[in-house]
Order: sequence, then structure tokens, then C-alpha cells
Amino acid sequence: MSNLSLFEPFSFKSLNIKNRIVMAPMTRSFSPNGVPGENVAAYYQRRAAGEVGLILSEGTVINRPASSNDANVPRFHGEISLAGWQKVINDVHAAGGSMGPQIWHMGVMDDHHSGWKPLTPFEGPSGINRPGNTNGLAMSEKDIADTIKAFGDAAADAKRLGFDTLELHGAHNYLIDQFFSDKTNLRTDIYGGKTLAERTRFAVEVIKEVRKRVGEDFPLIIRLSQWKPYEYNSKMAHTPAEMEAWLQPLADAGIDIFHCSQRRFWEPEFEGSDLNFAGWAKKLTGKTTITVGSIGLSGEFLAAFKGESSEPSSLDELLRRFDRGDFDLVAVGRPLLADPDWVSKIKEGRTAELKGFSKEALAELL
Ligand SMILES: Cc1cc2nc3c(=O)[nH]c(=O)nc-3n(C[C@H](O)[C@H](O)[C@H](O)COP(=O)(O)O)c2cc1C
Repeated sequence: MSNLSLFEPFSFKSLNIKNRIVMAPMTRSFSPNGVPGENVAAYYQRRAAGEVGLILSEGTVINRPASSNDANVPRFHGEISLAGWQKVINDVHAAGGSMGPQIWHMGVMDDHHSGWKPLTPFEGPSGINRPGNTNGLAMSEKDIADTIKAFGDAAADAKRLGFDTLELHGAHNYLIDQFFSDKTNLRTDIYGGKTLAERTRFAVEVIKEVRKRVGEDFPLIIRLSQWKPYEYNSKMAHTPAEMEAWLQPLADAGIDIFHCSQRRFWEPEFEGSDLNFAGWAKKLTGKTTITVGSIGLSGEFLAAFKGESSEPSSLDELLRRFDRGDFDLVAVGRPLLADPDWVSKIKEGRTAELKGFSKEALAELL
């Protein structure tokens, strides 16, 4: 099948990108003391030179004392870290690329295997990160207000440094997602509630603050997932109606683009239709959507952490859905982690040069 449609430019508000391919956010933990250095800037610049349309950074954490469980995850606050990010975006722009940081608060975490701990306990809606596992504190109303402000500060900094967009990390059981889920949000105040719609309140307040700080013309992305790392088959929305009740308040608060995280993009979201998560999000809200999950690879990413290798695979099913109009953009993770030239190779039909993915690629910034 022709992949030309993936190479049509895309414009939305102030964002203008040369094709539909997005680099998925991938934590690399190569930023000692939270500072992204020249090696990190060069890593992203290689992807821009390799013709990635839009680069999303690895998750980078906001200014809260326990927003991270890893000393080597980049911060998106403080003069030295922000100077590092300034170099990243300058270098990406110099190579003709576009980029947004993925703005992150991890919420309640398991302790990191390195033994490193933040100075204060982890925080989340109810102090738990899965049923029965307390490893932090339930946030007070002041904690919540301060956290919302810290998201806003990060957004204002993203715009000030010249990033083209930003993505809020609302997926994978981190802080924003911990508020969405009835497994981790047991609150009885206005931030809790029996329905998913009620539990969007924290995200809605974050989005409104971020929108206020960046203005109307700056595109805002949120990443969402039904699955949780502790339960791959979990679903928060079991029906299209529940999904609409989850997504519409986020759209109304100011989200422009839904980045719908799946492990395998071809899996249908609900019975009776082959639409995937990004397909449903677009149908229900009319917003721009990004799909992701095992594009161009034979195996999915969580198995990759356990050492399973993946081989390159055909893009035909992706193209069938893309050409049908299910989603606007497609995010690619591991292929771009392993090979900065993946997009150029796809564009030029150099399929024999495509590499698979194996865990060894995680050991360095290729
Ligand atoms: C090493 C690695 C780190 C990741 N870190 C993040 C992250 O910081 N934020 C996030 O939203 N997803 C993260 N993910 C998930 C990816 O963004 C992507 O959704 C997943 O790898 C599926 O895409 P793929 O099959 O193309 O690799 C990570 C994945 C990998 C492989």
C-alpha cells in the first residue's frame, strides 16, 4: 500500500508539521539530577533531522517535591533544567523539527529500583497506586491547588522556551490518571465521585489553568489510556457513552488533541466496531487524535521490557485505518528509539534497512 498519505503536512492552530508521524514520549533516564544535557539534545535533534513530524519528549516532571521517583528523569522546572530544554528545542528547530514536552507528575509510585527517593512522600488522590498498595499521601486541597499551579507554570515555560505544543501525561496510572480511576481515587470530596465524569475534575482544572497560561492559539495534547500497568485489560470507559463522558469535559476545558495510548493500535475498543481508541475519540469529540501502539513492529512494548524482541512489520493495517479517517496522526515509539532515521527509511521505501527492536537499544541514546 502507498504510504504517501502519512507524508501530508498537518497544521493546527500555531502548529505546522511536515508529516503525520509523531515520536511517542519515551522515558530514557539520561538526565542526571533532572537536567537534560547535550547528549539528550543531540538525541532529539537526530530525530528531527530524520524527518519526524512532531517529537514528543520523554515525560518531564513539574515543580512538586515528589513529582518523580527517578533522579535521572528530566525536570521541567528550575533554571538549569530549563536551560537544558532550551538547547533541546533550539537544536530540534535548527534541524527543521517540531516538538512538545510531555508534562508529567508521576503521582503515587513504587520506590525506584535505584533506591533514590524524593524528599517528601509520593502524593496522589488517595495515597495508593493500585488497590491495596499505599505508598504515599492523599493530597490536601492545598496540595491539589499547588499542583495545578505547577502544571500551569510548566506550560508557560514550554511556550516561553519556544516549544510548538505540549502534552499532558494523563495516561498509564500516573497522577492525572490516578484521579480518573475508581481504583486509585477513593476521595469523597469534589475531586472524587462515583462516575468517571465526576473524576475528571482534577484534569479539567489542570487543563483550564494550562490553557489560561498558554493562550488560545497554542495546541494542547493530552495522553490517555484505558489500560493500567498493573492491569493491561482494564477499561475505564466500557461503552462509547462512558468514553464521551470522560473525554468531552477535557475537550471543553481546552484540549485540542487526544493521544490515545494502546499497546496494539489495531485492537477495537468496543464490541460491534473495529474502531480503536483514537478512532472513537475522534468520532465522539470531533477532535484531532493520535494513535499509537506497535506500529511497524511485530511485538508490543511491555513485552519488550521483559526482553522480547520485535521485528519490522507491515504498515498496511495502519494505512487502511488512517486513510479511512480514523485518526490524524500516528505515534511511533520503539522504532524511533532504536533508529533516528526510521521515518526517512519509511518515506523512501528503504524497508530492507528497517531494524527491529531489542532491549539493548535502551542502554544508550542512539
Ligand atoms: C523505553 C520506553 C519509555 C516510555 N516512556 C513513556 C513516557 O515517558 N510517557 C508515556 O506516555 N509513554 C511512555 N512509553 C510508552 C510509549 O510512548 C508508547 O506508547 C509505547 O512504546 C507503544 O509504542 P510502540 O509500540 O511504538 O513502542 C514508553 C515506552 C518505552 C518503550
